[in-house]
Amino acid sequence: MEKKLVIQFKKFEKLSAVPDKYKEILDFAGHAFHNSYAPYSKFKVGACILLENGNKILGANIENASYPLCMCAERNAIAKLSFDETFQKIIAIAVVADKKNVMVSPCGACRQVLSEIETRQNSPIEIIFQGEEGTYYLLESIDSILPFSFSAESLP
Ligand code: THU
Repeated sequence: MEKKLVIQFKKFEKLSAVPDKYKEILDFAGHAFHNSYAPYSKFKVGACILLENGNKILGANIENASYPLCMCAERNAIAKLSFDETFQKIIAIAVVADKKNVMVSPCGACRQVLSEIETRQNSPIEIIFQGEEGTYYLLESIDSILPFSFSAESLP
């Protein structure tokens, strides 16, 4: 049996076409990357998490001479959540980089971490990220970018 998986997303050709709700967190993410420490990749990334109480949590990538210890902007923002906030649902996350003409889609590890939170909070996390040539992509859930994810359901 063959099956097809369809992923739905919105693509905005320029920032001015992005709805205000997301424009605001993209803007915050754009400030966040100034706190990045990326001497090895020279690729500064900023993330902004929007919580259900309206608070915004920022993160930037922090690299290390021991390369596997480099940490993405998204997961640094998530790490801050655990002590900045009592449990609040995540409504959305925005991801941008200092290089404006490339796509910054979250890496596999960040997708897995966000997927766990989505399951825990039992509601989708919207994701908006910078695409190529000044475009932006909006997806309605992490599940959309991590189909067939590994989850607690598989564990004994
Ligand atoms: N990076 C992020 O912070 N988030 C992403 O979504 C993609 C990659 C960082 C990790 C590393 O510091 C640099 O970008 C190059 O991979």
